[in-house]
Amino acid sequence: MTPSKVKIILDTDPGGDDAFALLWLLSLVKQRYAELVAVTTVDGNVHAKYTFTGASKLLELAGFDHIEVAKGIIGGSAHGIEDAGLLHGIDGMGNLTHTLPECTNSYFTARFADEVLIEKLNASPGEITIIAIAPLTNLAAAEKKSPGILKKAKDIIIMGGAFLTSGNLTPEGEFNIAYDVEAANIVFSCREDLVVLPLDITRKLIFTNYIAQNIKKVNPESAIAQLIVSLAEFMCQTSQSFRETSGLEGFLVHDAVTLAYLFYPETLLFRRAKVRIETKGEWTTGKTVFDHRHKTKIGANAWVAMEVDAVNVLAAMSEDLKILIR
Ligand code: BDR
Ligand code: CA
Repeated sequence: MTPSKVKIILDTDPGGDDAFALLWLLSLVKQRYAELVAVTTVDGNVHAKYTFTGASKLLELAGFDHIEVAKGIIGGSAHGIEDAGLLHGIDGMGNLTHTLPECTNSYFTARFADEVLIEKLNASPGEITIIAIAPLTNLAAAEKKSPGILKKAKDIIIMGGAFLTSGNLTPEGEFNIAYDVEAANIVFSCREDLVVLPLDITRKLIFTNYIAQNIKKVNPESAIAQLIVSLAEFMCQTSQSFRETSGLEGFLVHDAVTLAYLFYPETLLFRRAKVRIETKGEWTTGKTVFDHRHKTKIGANAWVAMEVDAVNVLAAMSEDLKILIR
């Protein structure tokens, strides 16, 4: 029996690691394991205009320009928070967007993400998996406009949070949660089965220039392969300045772990937890909290990944990227 394809909406803010996650997903689409229903872009790593362009150009580059890209809702609770342009480049794509082919998508005429999420989830209730690898502004906007809509997703898989380790936006806050805490709070209150992939494990996913070069060898002429190498070079450099990898060469492909969960689940270990978002802390706004003392499952709303087999996640990602560029 042929297993059915996983239907996915990717909610993303490219972002170097988002770009790698999207390319990995496109390989899985090419291999017919997944169907990409839409990409909803978000204001986050860089402004919504740039995340829209980044995602659109990646789809164009890989030959998937027929997939709808929605633009991000502006006006979450991210007032005054600096974006991550210094780490990801001012365009979010290592300042490489201008090297990519023009795309036909227009930010001005694109639909907003909440509209697309509501339409797609209503059209296929219980069938679509949302992969959320950015601030949760769009998901929360959809839930506010159409209460209960997020329950119509098959699953919601979130890269976000930090439980036993420090944050990366603030001492306690991880970027995707702390950037728009009100949105995170709405999403974490909407179901009991969220899948959460926090910094605790993604800090182990160090993608290197060597891995990028190795992928490129399969087809050095491929424009995608060239982007993989150039983007990795950029991200490795900025990640060093921000000490993202404790001095090791490489950069963190946080967002890619969501694909590992869906397609290589043997690489992750989870615990059941009741996750709460700190929305009013004096010093800790954006912190994700669960009770480490008790293992009670009462009131649990999430599965939180606590361990990752980083070697095999990176290996699976590399092999799939090779298939994309062949
Ligand atoms: C998350 O924050 C962003 O900067 C990355 O793209 C990732 O989604 C990691 O904390
Ligand atoms: Ca991201």
